[in-house]
Amino acid sequence: MAQFIPVPAFDLVIVGATGDLARRKLLPALFHRFLDGQIEAGARIIGAARSEMSRDAFRAFAQDACRAGAREAFDEATFARFAALLDYVQIDAAGGGEGFARLAEVLGAATGVRIFYLATSPSLYVRICEGLGAAGLAADARVVLEKPIGTDLASAQAINAGVGRIFPEPAIFRIDHYLGKETVQNLLVLRFANTLFEPLWSRTMIDHVQITVAETLGVEGRASYYDQAGALRDMVQNHLLQLLCLTAMEPPNSLSADHVRTEKIKVLEALRPFDAKSARADTVRAQYRAGVVGGAPVPGYVEEVGQPTRTETYVAIRAEIDNWRWAGVPFYLRTGKRLGARRSHIVVTFKPVPHALFGPVTQTPNRLVMRLQPDEGVQLSMQFKEPGPGGLRIKSAPLNLSYADTFTLRYPDAYERLLMDVVRGNLSLFMRRDEVETAWAWVDGLIDAWAQGDAPVESYAAGSEGPLAAALLLARHDRGWLEDLE
Ligand code: BG6
Repeated sequence: MAQFIPVPAFDLVIVGATGDLARRKLLPALFHRFLDGQIEAGARIIGAARSEMSRDAFRAFAQDACRAGAREAFDEATFARFAALLDYVQIDAAGGGEGFARLAEVLGAATGVRIFYLATSPSLYVRICEGLGAAGLAADARVVLEKPIGTDLASAQAINAGVGRIFPEPAIFRIDHYLGKETVQNLLVLRFANTLFEPLWSRTMIDHVQITVAETLGVEGRASYYDQAGALRDMVQNHLLQLLCLTAMEPPNSLSADHVRTEKIKVLEALRPFDAKSARADTVRAQYRAGVVGGAPVPGYVEEVGQPTRTETYVAIRAEIDNWRWAGVPFYLRTGKRLGARRSHIVVTFKPVPHALFGPVTQTPNRLVMRLQPDEGVQLSMQFKEPGPGGLRIKSAPLNLSYADTFTLRYPDAYERLLMDVVRGNLSLFMRRDEVETAWAWVDGLIDAWAQGDAPVESYAAGSEGPLAAALLLARHDRGWLEDLE
């Protein structure tokens, strides 16, 4: 079993502790770190939310959450030891300062690392930080902000400025949970711990890159948030752009947070903005209608929302990075809900061989596939001679690495890694203020371009591979999305 180095003593306050994120992700992640011995008995985890709730009721809530999210048989005795770390304080972020004063009493004098995790609507971030500041709780503390940071550049700037008045930038941890996924971190290792790829990693050898994050889930009771956001703000502004940055960035000078983040920002700054014409030609937005997912009929998005809406649940984009390394290499991004299969992967397709030595047979180009989920692995498709007499037949086959077969360790959930990084004070996997804002600037440009050009909202059946227009986006240039891996 892997040895985990215990993190220093900490007090973690989860604001919004009775919400979906705390229940599905944060509490189970903390429980798992506790199970692995990484969190020691001196730590305190304090739930804070608007509801009136006793400490015991919060412990019972956490117990249900941890049981539901348990990676193996749920052990009541271990949970009882974990529950001893839990406490609860009622806070109405939008109300007066009493809740914060109560929290200050419960926290007492700081003895170790103090963290406030804001698992609330971003519209409350500034008010909560002000409440913490006024109660004298912000000094030397860290604050964690969940995505989305705002709904556009202006609101993101307002949040960043408001939070920044209370907490200095190095104390602000902006989460994009994709950066906590093992396979996403592996992207850096694959690129920069192997000599093989770097000489090939540019317009000279690469034809195009595809980044797919496909979900089978619908909006899962989050329709009021999602309908304001849509796939572009919910997924592209953060997760897909982070994947694009890690794929396209220059080698950072070191793994220090600022070196890594500076290189990512350079990619975001080089993304070509859209205008009405290019948005029509190079992007697709679409919404799912009723269909069948995993054998079960599901309603369409409009039915789920309960009123007419044009919000997109699917986006495909042909993005261009205007810099020396990537000029002319399209980065195709796509993400959508209620698709036929859950799969996320990055596909780097290399250029064809310059001379068809083996005749005019269709030769599949070399392809490096990084499978992020659900079946993590790396594939390199190569050409081989098909064994057998009678001519020379060429066949594409993959060199295949499956994480599950190669590494026996359990995959920690992204939040486990990220929460422990906050405790350790390691900012490398969190977004800097200018990174979030640069990503919003590009996304805002596309939203404006869609509006100006009155770009259509296409439709796709739930359970399908997405709208036809997304297939045509690549077919126009004789390319196709990679759907099924070899
Ligand atoms: C979240 C989005 O950030 O990421 C959700 O708000 C989405 O809409 C989720 O379902 C996907 O995360 P994962 O880890 O399941 O790929």
